[in-house]
Amino acid sequence: MTELSFSRIAALSAVLLLAPASAPAADEAEITAETFGCLTDMTPVRGFFVDNLLGDLEATLGIANSADGGVYPPGSVVQLVPTEVMVKRGAGWSPETNDWEFFELNVSADGSSFRGRGTTDVINRFGGNCLDCHILAEPQWDMICETGHGCAPIPITREQITAIQNADPRCVAGRAED
Ligand code: HEC
Repeated sequence: MTELSFSRIAALSAVLLLAPASAPAADEAEITAETFGCLTDMTPVRGFFVDNLLGDLEATLGIANSADGGVYPPGSVVQLVPTEVMVKRGAGWSPETNDWEFFELNVSADGSSFRGRGTTDVINRFGGNCLDCHILAEPQWDMICETGHGCAPIPITREQITAIQNADPRCVAGRAED
């Protein structure tokens, strides 16, 4: 017991020591693959889904539903399909991406894992660079494409998107445990 506690403390200390010198600001959530679960458990907005890792869903919805756009608040999670995620990090985290972190996930009934994450160099499973497309959104839309925001449209129909959303294998896994 004592030994186990000691090794736990040692492991924890190692993690703390390995933390980057420029510790994330207090408004930063730690993001791991476990952060991301069943897509359709998130809050729907016009066919995509949002959440807020810092608990401020109202602020995220305020921007998502604003007719004039605006800057999504830190912690905002935005998803159209199960495998592609944008998370708004703290102000100044990555000026080139408006502080968005892009994620390309693998998803299965066991959960999520990372295929890629980052800022300017994240490539989706079809070979496309996230930023290259999302940067085309007009400035007031904070790199959120939807339709009519200035991005080149993706070649799949709303029906296909809905089908992909409803086929998220992580949702089935979650319900089986209920
Ligand atoms: C070929 C261009 C292209 C690439 C590459 C691309 N996206 Fe998108 N993405 C779009 C478009 C266009 C939409 C809006 C589609 C719609 O609603 O009809 C979209 C939608 C989204 C949304 C929903 C919010 C929004 O902007 O409408 C998220 C989140 C997202 N993409 C994340 C990513 C991530 C993460 C990557 C890289 C792993 C990525 N995308 C790569 C074009 C692209």
